[in-house]
Amino acid sequence: MPEQRATAIAHPNIALIKYWGNRDHALRLPANSSLSMNLAALATTTTVEFRSDLDADSVTIDDAEATASARERVSTHLDRVRALASIQRKASVISRNNFPAGTGLASSASAFAALTVAACAAAGLQLSTDALSRLARRGSGSACRSVPGGFVLWDACGADAGGEDNCSFGRTIAPPDHWDLRNVVAIVESAHKAAGSTEGHAIAETSPFQAVRVASTPERLERCRAAILARDFPALADVIEQDALAMHAVMMTGTPSLLYWRPATLAVMQAVRAWRAEGLAVAFTIDAGPNVHCICPAESSTQVKHLIRAIPGVERIFTSGVGGGSYLLA
Ligand code: PMV
Repeated sequence: MPEQRATAIAHPNIALIKYWGNRDHALRLPANSSLSMNLAALATTTTVEFRSDLDADSVTIDDAEATASARERVSTHLDRVRALASIQRKASVISRNNFPAGTGLASSASAFAALTVAACAAAGLQLSTDALSRLARRGSGSACRSVPGGFVLWDACGADAGGEDNCSFGRTIAPPDHWDLRNVVAIVESAHKAAGSTEGHAIAETSPFQAVRVASTPERLERCRAAILARDFPALADVIEQDALAMHAVMMTGTPSLLYWRPATLAVMQAVRAWRAEGLAVAFTIDAGPNVHCICPAESSTQVKHLIRAIPGVERIFTSGVGGGSYLLA
């Protein structure tokens, strides 16, 4: 039996047009298409080894045994890989994040992208980037955007496309060096988030605004794609703030209501708008948490960092450029 072991590296991504809500929860088919950029400075490294001496999967994350629920989610994903490869062996999974501890930046996107790429290679499967992305999506929706590199569009592949499972995956629309954007993350709370995104996606449809948000996403996505391709920062700034706020409007108005913002979240948002009005190129986006991701061209990033550090309530900041796709370590 050849060795069934492989190691993969994946970067998390920040969505510029958000994925929020599924039209099929089991398949993680999204309610709308989304667009993101990978984050070069953050990485998850995962080693998967299928072994004959194990009678259960073992999962270690950042040198600690994974919780039962995390292990179950990983095992379910490994089952998908085992089914494709027709193997039965259980696996040992060892995963490490380079994210500084306590930043609240832990990411299921890089986790499931790295797990998918490592597990498929360890199982002897040779899948295309598209197929790996499609498979990673089943583990965590946004993980499909961390498989290809740079600026990535995840097509919802909706009813007008036949609703096929097999066309919903991430594709690169521009490589990392297309535009030197930075994400300066203002960490306002490092604690683990109150409601995870899997739970959040299920709540999305309870908001009366979700249908409106989903219906209006193609227009924003098109504006965002055009702004990226033309490197038009003012256009990008407008559309990413609108889109993040549309998602948070849905979060706030669902049952139960998800209100992720802290006072410092709003302080950073207001400051970003004021700086932009004064001519500084910077815009915010916010995921399912209180931290504010300040997107800016490389030229503005030194000033953006300096200004954000001075805002009361900002515990620390973290900066990243645009990253590449997932890859195997030789
Ligand atoms: O992939 P998930 O299930 O963790 O969902 C990600 C949800 C957001 O981060 C809020 C938005 C996005 O598109 O990444």
